[in-house]
Amino acid sequence: MFSITRMRPFGSGMQMLDRDHRAISEILVELNGLVAREACPALQLRLLKELGQLSAVHFALEEGMMSATRYPSLPAHQLRHRRMAEEIRRVTASWSAKTAPALVQPAGLLWESHILHVENEDLDFGRWVNGFRSPKPVRACKVAQLEEAVAV
Ligand SMILES: [Fe+2]
Ligand SMILES: [Fe+2]
Repeated sequence: MFSITRMRPFGSGMQMLDRDHRAISEILVELNGLVAREACPALQLRLLKELGQLSAVHFALEEGMMSATRYPSLPAHQLRHRRMAEEIRRVTASWSAKTAPALVQPAGLLWESHILHVENEDLDFGRWVNGFRSPKPVRACKVAQLEEAVAV
């Protein structure tokens, strides 16, 4: 059984992305809590749909930032996003009030997948943007400037 009792901090250093990561985490924490208590099936389904919508918007934003900075790991990152989105779609499509208790493991796996991705691949992008992976940082682009450019 998965136990999610607290939020984890997000330190990619990119406010726009971390804001989304936190919002996605909040949805997953709430979903997992409801699933574990077998409570509010209608809300469970609504949360799954919100998770799918927010994830799609977030993935597009993140990939846009990666494209704008010519991030070399973009193709692999896009593939990972596609797999995560497909998993959310699959769980949402197979959800029904009758089988809601069976959501315990899939909902926990969605949480694990999200956290692992944020703490590894997304964090790698944050480090790369800040030049931490280059022996000679060539990126004059500060994170705040990048976020401003994407927000326009
Ligand atoms: Fe990502
Ligand atoms: Fe992300």
